[in-house]
Formats: sequence, C-alpha cells, structure tokens
Amino acid sequence: MPAKLIFATNNAHKIAEISPLIAHQFQLITLAEAGIDIDIPEPHDTLEANATEKSITIHRLTGENVFSEDTGLEVTALNGEPGVKSARYAGDTRDFGKNINKLLVNLSGQSDRSARFRTVVSLILQGKEYQFEGICEGHISETPSGHEGFGYDPVFIPAGANRSFAEMSLREKNQYSHRKKAIAKLIDFFNNNFA
Ligand code: IMP
Repeated sequence: MPAKLIFATNNAHKIAEISPLIAHQFQLITLAEAGIDIDIPEPHDTLEANATEKSITIHRLTGENVFSEDTGLEVTALNGEPGVKSARYAGDTRDFGKNINKLLVNLSGQSDRSARFRTVVSLILQGKEYQFEGICEGHISETPSGHEGFGYDPVFIPAGANRSFAEMSLREKNQYSHRKKAIAKLIDFFNNNFA
C-alpha cells in the first residue's frame, strides 16, 4: 500500500502535472480530497520560505505527511523578476494574460531573453522538513503561442526545444519541467531513505 501524501495546493494544473509522476510511490491526496478549503498564504520573499509556509500550514491542520511547491519565473534581464512574485506580477487578480503582457512589455528591446523556472518543493515527512529544487532553463519568446498549461507557459521556450510549454502535451512538458525535476528528487530521496 503506497504511503499517503497530501499535496498542499489548490492549483489543478500542478495536480495534473504531478499526479502521474508520483502515483507509483504515493497515494496523492489533494486538499479538496482532504476536505480542506483554504487559500494558503504565500507571504514571504523567497520560494523556499513560501514552500515551507504552505506545507507547514497543512501539516499543522492534518498531522499528515504533506508536500507543497512554490515556483517562480526568473528572467535574467529583469534581475530575476518576477521570481517569487510571479503569480501577482501584474496585480492581485493573478491574471495570467496580464502577467504575460507585463513581462513582454518589460522585455521589449532586450536582446537577452534568457529565463528559468525554479521550483522549490517542501516535504514534511514524519514531522521533519526536506526541500528539493528543480530548474528549467530557457527563454521568453516575443509573442505568446499555444493553449496548453498555465501561467507563463505560452511565452516560455525550454532550452533544447523550439516550442513553448503551452504548445506541448503534459508528457512533453514533463521532459523539461522544473516541477518534474524537483519531484524526481523527492521520489529518489524517499526511495533511498524510507522505501
Ligand atoms: P505559485 O506561487 O508556485 O503557485 O506560482 C506562481 C506563478 O508562477 C503561477 O501563478 C504561474 O503564473 C507561474 N508558474 C508556476 N509554475 C509554472 C509553470 O510550470 N508554467 C508557467 N507558469 C508557471
């Protein structure tokens, strides 16, 4: 019987990306399945601290093993912005289209369009916290393309590809994805220490 693990997120896209990766190892429980309906705070100025905040909030509520993740888009020419503020880059409405527009405006005329997604996963297992990082290097396109995925996917082209994340299936995105890399580290860690 696989170990139960709550995924501390309300983001259906993240659940869809991670579920198939983790299904062999863990019985993944969403917040909805755990009967928890809260907007988990992300008050800090680092991905690491926000990831911890999310997993600890849910661990305190349930006492169960939990993981969370926080992700940011770090753009070189913008000194790492939007980074930890990726969700609210263009305001509190967290509008993906407005965020993309603001990014493209801020990058107009820049020759360096390199960027990376960085994910920090926080796992609380048997009351102890462990963190895992996943990075996907790439660049920001001049115009959005594709309708898959979420967030900045229509303008992010991972290194080694010539299409945006939003033009890829879930399976293809996971060949490159920051989130996939962080989760792979979590699974390795679990297999080496607890399986
Ligand atoms: P969160 O705070 O980890 O939920 O994510 C912050 C924001 O980063 C999201 O609202 C998205 O705009 C963006 N983001 C996170 N992961 C991805 C991704 O895999 N693709 C595109 N955008 C993402």
